[in-house]
Amino acid sequence: MVKKKILRSLNQVRGEYREEEELASQAGITADELREEIQDLIGDGFVIESSNEGYRLVKIPNRLLPYQIQEDLHTSYIGHDIRYFSEVDSTNEVAKKLAEEGASQGTIVIAEVQRRGKGRLGKRWLSPEGGVWMTIILRPDIALVKAPLLTLVTGVAVAETLQSRCGLDVGIKWPNDILIGEKKVCGILTEVSENKGALDYVVLGIGIDLNVDVEDFPRDLKEGATSLKNELDQEIYGVEVVQRFLENFEAIYEEFEKGQFPAILAQWRRLSKTIGRQVEVHKKGHMVVGEAVGINRDGALILEEEDGTLIKVISGECVHRPL
Ligand code: BTN
Repeated sequence: MVKKKILRSLNQVRGEYREEEELASQAGITADELREEIQDLIGDGFVIESSNEGYRLVKIPNRLLPYQIQEDLHTSYIGHDIRYFSEVDSTNEVAKKLAEEGASQGTIVIAEVQRRGKGRLGKRWLSPEGGVWMTIILRPDIALVKAPLLTLVTGVAVAETLQSRCGLDVGIKWPNDILIGEKKVCGILTEVSENKGALDYVVLGIGIDLNVDVEDFPRDLKEGATSLKNELDQEIYGVEVVQRFLENFEAIYEEFEKGQFPAILAQWRRLSKTIGRQVEVHKKGHMVVGEAVGINRDGALILEEEDGTLIKVISGECVHRPL
């Protein structure tokens, strides 16, 4: 990718000028082609100054452009094909369409804004500028019933990535909310497609409130939500978070495919903010209450009710009762 090469060579001498001829030859293009590529980069938000000494890179935009993500991405296949949209209805919906058309495992759909972001349980997912709205297409060789476990696998990858990026109190609320403290910073929506009872493909949607201003959220949402920017009081470079997440995800997904789910589940338990808490799990028309005492190999939450009865909860909206 030519833009990747130009940026790499401008970055090597960050802030200093690189001669036009040298830059063009490093990118394997002519000087005229280089000028066009530089104009494109400027159109994408890069600040590149030119003078008779050549070009110099002054500012990198905080966007999620494929050639920025792929520049320093160390994966074998995840994110090698990135479909980028400045605005889209839902990356999960685009991903499903691409999967139906034969897109390969590891293809990513990423958008700066979603007009109709989808949350779990039919809820909407607010997706303004500043977030990471992304979907990974997977074609795992596993039984259909195991597909929901991918939500837990992804939760571990996101939580580990955010924890190492920001050093904050990151953890997981069952089944798949990533929290900082008690507030949600990321949600995961796994959608599975089957063919004659067998797993066809999975689209894994991940929404991270990175540089989103939670203050602008409607009142019912803002109380329980946060963003990395809110927590750290500074703008976060999104490309780096996506790169590290995709690398972590690929490593954990490989373990999952090799049948090492128990080890991933052990890590999920360590990251869990739910186990040990009094919780309510809301299901259609009723609610169960108890202490969350564990999670089983199917990803079900084990609750101990007041009278000591153990119950298994497969799905629902989990609410942590105040400490
Ligand atoms: C949740 O309710 O917690 C799940 C939220 C998932 C949001 C992500 S953003 C990218 C992908 N596209 C969507 O429409 N939803 C998911």
